[in-house]
Amino acid sequence: MKKILTIFTILLLVSCKQEKKSDYTPVRGLITDKAMVVSARQEASKIGNDILKKGGNAFDAMAATELALAVSYPYAGNLGGGGFMVYRKNNGDIGAVDYREKAPLAATKDMYLDEEGNVIPGKSTLGAMAVGVPGTVAGVFAVHEKFGTLPIQEILTPVIELAKKGVFVTEKQEKRIAAKQEDFSKANKDSIIFMKAWKQGDTIRYPALAKTLERILENGRDEFYKGETAKTLAKFIQDNGGIVTEEDLAKYQVRWRDPVTFTYDDLRIISMSPPSSGGICLAQILKMIEPYDLDKFGHNTTKTIQVITEAERRAYADRSFYLGDPDFVDIPNKELISDDYLKNRMSSFTFDKATLSSDVSYGNVQVVESNETTHYSIVDQFGNAISTTTTINGAFGSKLYCSELGFFLNNEMDDFSSKPGVPNMFGLIGAEANSIAPEKRMLSSMTPTIVEKDGKLLMSVGTPGGSTIITSVLQTILNVHEFGMTMQDAVNAPRFHHQWLPDVVMMEPNSFPEELIKELTTKGYTINQENSPVIGKVDGILVLDDGKLEGGADRRGDDTAVGF
Ligand code: DON
Repeated sequence: MKKILTIFTILLLVSCKQEKKSDYTPVRGLITDKAMVVSARQEASKIGNDILKKGGNAFDAMAATELALAVSYPYAGNLGGGGFMVYRKNNGDIGAVDYREKAPLAATKDMYLDEEGNVIPGKSTLGAMAVGVPGTVAGVFAVHEKFGTLPIQEILTPVIELAKKGVFVTEKQEKRIAAKQEDFSKANKDSIIFMKAWKQGDTIRYPALAKTLERILENGRDEFYKGETAKTLAKFIQDNGGIVTEEDLAKYQVRWRDPVTFTYDDLRIISMSPPSSGGICLAQILKMIEPYDLDKFGHNTTKTIQVITEAERRAYADRSFYLGDPDFVDIPNKELISDDYLKNRMSSFTFDKATLSSDVSYGNVQVVESNETTHYSIVDQFGNAISTTTTINGAFGSKLYCSELGFFLNNEMDDFSSKPGVPNMFGLIGAEANSIAPEKRMLSSMTPTIVEKDGKLLMSVGTPGGSTIITSVLQTILNVHEFGMTMQDAVNAPRFHHQWLPDVVMMEPNSFPEELIKELTTKGYTINQENSPVIGKVDGILVLDDGKLEGGADRRGDDTAVGF
């Protein structure tokens, strides 16, 4: 939306918004007075919320929720993966922690290629060779050490109890487990707990995971990286043909990073910086669409979809070329999100017809010398907010499950570019900036984001969904800001996605009118409604005008908001 509006246009916009509101019956999510946790499982949200109720802050609750998801949501919650957290403290201080997995010391650029230089199917996705050095335990302890207020025992005890007591299988979980059982057999030498025919209503207990967590409680972070757990883990990965060593684990460190910050209209957006592409791509897309009056065009109309799609196309082309681990490559951060650069990038766009991705490459940036996942949002009773996305990459990661320790290992190595121009499991293409090197972090799309308005906290939001993460976060922010939706409606609304290559607009099926699809097709857009039954699974918290909190827990999963 244009920054300078005449009084006339303001009046017009207000009347448009009111008109829209008349045929829009908002659905609100959970409303609470002070504090809230929204995550992929009710058990995890409850444990996080209990920590807040005990007087813990958002950072204590982060540690509890992250670990409770490792127990209750093995599909993506993890000890064997990594993630990113963006925070905003009640005094306005912001920051981010990167506990992303790293390539093992023995990793090489061509490790997933055969002798002819072709990518070996499955090698970066299934089994021990796909595993990056996990960062989650380090992340949780780093956050707790820096900002936590409750003893770690109070945080870990309910999580250990949950692992012992077990977790109820939901209808969606039953399907997810059944769908991956063939892969579990391929990736594991021995039978694993998830090979049983679990049914909705069953309870899965995790005694091995409870023991691992008990050792972590006793010995701290180093139990995972230097203790008995590290020894068992490294041996297990190597026995299964992988290359992660005790040295890799011992060397793992989190990185505190400065988040990407930028404005959109009167919002200030704080999101994850590299090695996630999330913040930079989100900034690029939002800044490219800012000059257009989306609220006048309307939600999910042809014009709105066109503008967003074209901005996404251009941002993802840049992502593929410029972005990687900032500890290894120079990233032209400032240039990539500068107004001049982005204005120029959109200059080839017209409403008449689609730009072809084959006509779009990465932009020409003047480089000044100097490069299955789950999300949860927490706001505490003190006004601190965190936004965390954590992952083992694919559903149940590499499918390799360490029964002795009780958790799945990630297949995050697939987020590297195994070979320039060859897409990874999300169809994303990469270049040198995201090539494999020992100890390098693989590029991510995770976009944990916090939004401020008028200098105050407005929203904490994020989602899983691989390459669609960025565009799902984007649409959720726009749904609230441009289209006046409640947090719950913003999260539930149908989503679409474009990522430069392949040159298709992915749409959630049965969610967009035929007429609109026809119109877009006529303009040269290729629409695909088959490949993505679900785009993103967004969880967020919105601060309402009266200071209360509204939770948005995505209808697409078992996501739940709990608060007080
Ligand atoms: O870091 C990334 O971008 C991916 N590993 C995220 C994977 C993901 O979201 C899978 N969930 N659907």
